[in-house]
Amino acid sequence: MQEFRILLIDDEPAQITSIKSFLKRRNYTVLSANSGSEGMAVVREGNVDLVLTDFRMPDMNGLEVVKALKEFNPEIPVVVITAFSDTEDAVQVMKEGAFDYLAKPVNLDELEALVQKAREHCYLISENKLLKEQLRERYKFDSIISQSGVMEDVLNTAGRVARSKATVLIRGESGTGKELIANAIHYGSERRDKPLITVNCAALAGNLLESELFGHEKGSFTGAISRHIGRFEQADGGTLFIDEIGDIPLLTQVKLLRALQFGEFERVGGSQTIKIDVRVVAATNRNLEELIEKGLFREDLYYRLNVITIQLPPLRERKADIPLLIRHFIKKYARENNKAIQGISKEGQDYLMRYHFPGNIRELENIIERAVVLARDAIITTDDLPAGLSAGSEKSILDPRNFSDPFPLKVAAFERAMIEEALELKKGNQSQAARLLGISERHLRSRMQKLEIVNNKR
Ligand SMILES: Nc1ncnc2c1ncn2[C@@H]1O[C@H](COP(=O)(O)OP(=O)(O)OP(=O)(O)O)[C@@H](O)[C@H]1O
Ligand SMILES: [Mg+2]
Repeated sequence: MQEFRILLIDDEPAQITSIKSFLKRRNYTVLSANSGSEGMAVVREGNVDLVLTDFRMPDMNGLEVVKALKEFNPEIPVVVITAFSDTEDAVQVMKEGAFDYLAKPVNLDELEALVQKAREHCYLISENKLLKEQLRERYKFDSIISQSGVMEDVLNTAGRVARSKATVLIRGESGTGKELIANAIHYGSERRDKPLITVNCAALAGNLLESELFGHEKGSFTGAISRHIGRFEQADGGTLFIDEIGDIPLLTQVKLLRALQFGEFERVGGSQTIKIDVRVVAATNRNLEELIEKGLFREDLYYRLNVITIQLPPLRERKADIPLLIRHFIKKYARENNKAIQGISKEGQDYLMRYHFPGNIRELENIIERAVVLARDAIITTDDLPAGLSAGSEKSILDPRNFSDPFPLKVAAFERAMIEEALELKKGNQSQAARLLGISERHLRSRMQKLEIVNNKR
């Protein structure tokens, strides 16, 4: 256990001596001061974890010590020792934010219990701070790996909207990093110290989802044995991440729309209107336009959500990111598994570059994790990678009758397929590939740059 430093403030030397020797025997570090002002001087020097102060003292009394301390650092708990009769004083100091009070004569067991409690309180506060710090570190925009132009645009938009209160809709295939972006938006916003609450609409059936989002009153339905505070209320002041929003039932959509529009709702079975201040970030890998066509998603909700849309491109359309991601995940899993893996062989990387990754970054991450575990040498080779990863046909996006992918993405996919095919046929010779395509080599180069096609045959 870390050192815990207690400051005793009392004008009576005998009182200080007895408490001090008791706490010292319990392995606490104890500092002392004979007056409030002297005590505050010690506090200002730093490193005090808890203050124990007498109430009646000639210069500053206990109440003034509490006030001065709260002003200096509200996180240092202070316990005030009052005479038995002075309940008024006790009430006053509690109002000013004292951690607790003890009546004289001080019962040493009670004192120890209080010190323990204060210690746990401090520990929880610092633990909480540390966790928040770690989360922020983990989810800040810099931790999102990318070098492709498409992702740069995505991150730019996300960074800019983070600071606003606007509702954001994040779209993209499974495993493209939607949740990662949602986290980055929260931790990049002014709400970062407030809660980020997540709700996954695909994981909960209809009425369960509604009470999960909005809460319910006791007895509102069979099984509602007590009041339940919903995610919207939990997220008050912070961000609510609604994942898989395409799976939300129609009836709940109505309620959600109102919550988004007016920041208000009622708990299930409740009549009291609850007002909240919540920033909503939603994500889906479903085709909302198609769901609207089928009458499964409300158009008004769609427009409400669609204020700012972030479209995450599938990994096969940002292949330039693959080498970087591979390096990132190797480092991550080498550390986790305590293995001294330095990288991947050229063949191994080429093999992955050709794969079409239907499961996107999550799939790449899993492949690398497995390879790190399997690898016998410092370099991952093709042997450590799953056999038979196919280049994929990208049929769905290239199929002219498939209207679910946005037009520009389909056109780009078609262009990409032709260019990659030509490069493959001409073994990476760009001037020959250009001739085959019937365009100039310069035109080919510029399209390759635009589409971030890496010529790994060369
Ligand atoms: N650009 C990136 N840099 C580093 N790691 C990433 C990146 N994008 C995604 N990941 C990692 O890939 C995994 C999948 O990301 P995430 O869970 O955010 O995807 P998703 O789009 O929410 O997927 P699903 O639709 O399946 O819920 C996570 O472990 C995430 O940390
Ligand atoms: Mg997700």
